Amino acid sequence: MGFDKNLFKIDGFEISFHKKSKRIIDIKINDEIIEKLIFPFHKFDITSLEYKPFTRFTIAKSLNEVTSGKLSSLINFIVKDREIGCFIIGPKNKNPKIDDTFLIKLSTAISHLIGLPNYDSMANKYYARFYVKHEDNSDSYLRKAYTNMDLHTDGTYVKEKTDWLLMSKLEEKNVKGGETVLLHLDDWEYLNELFSDPIGKKNFIWGSPNSKNIPYKVEHPVFTVDEKKRPGISYIDQFPEPRNMKEGIFLQNLSDSLEESKKKIIITLPVGFSVVANNHFWLHGRKQFMKNRELSRELLRIRGRFFK
Ligand SMILES: [Fe+2]
Repeated sequence: MGFDKNLFKIDGFEISFHKKSKRIIDIKINDEIIEKLIFPFHKFDITSLEYKPFTRFTIAKSLNEVTSGKLSSLINFIVKDREIGCFIIGPKNKNPKIDDTFLIKLSTAISHLIGLPNYDSMANKYYARFYVKHEDNSDSYLRKAYTNMDLHTDGTYVKEKTDWLLMSKLEEKNVKGGETVLLHLDDWEYLNELFSDPIGKKNFIWGSPNSKNIPYKVEHPVFTVDEKKRPGISYIDQFPEPRNMKEGIFLQNLSDSLEESKKKIIITLPVGFSVVANNHFWLHGRKQFMKNRELSRELLRIRGRFFK
């Protein structure tokens, strides 16, 4: 790969290819860095971060400064590089100082080195935190523990561009299964077949259930191309509203071809870790959990666009 090796060397960080895929970079933060973040992170509480957007940039700057300005270059390179486009980041060791508040701040800092979060209408904040539990009465697959969440991209039903997403695991109890599933578009065996179908490049209508708090519908195609003519995808199974048999059958075929892929990467995200992916050429999903009445997982998500 044609990248600067020095980019991947930062004091206090362990940076390697993920053991499951060379398209995912594994970034572990050593204790010395965590210790250095405690003080600047204490400067603001979560309410300040929610109410005063500039404070998010202040903690992002603190994070970048403990890496002598190198973390921003590294993660921006990764998330925009077509060959890679994904990284996993988190504290190497457990530490009593790393609680949910610290992890929200760390996720905020990481995301604000990459771009601007989109307003998350589900949570009415720049981020959303939510539980997956045994019981669920919601109206989307997000919190349905015992159903696969099929491969998809985020932001299919909103007007804002969603260039990247960050998902952090804040906590988990009594969990078996529920692994993260990832697929890089260029690894997908059926890409050429589906991408060459003209229907995929025509507008579909995308709506969303009530819990998402989006009162409008949007129109966009499933497949786009970037400035270098490489395919991008914007797709989730639940939200497109096919208007005729052609659209319906195309979506069914797309859904089947994604789920049948043998190129899916299945990873167990440790508690305290975040996965950050380019939302144009990475799809993500979740395997179903094993049944347990005490099952509980708390997640945080931030999605947004790149800085101009
Ligand atoms: Fe998602």
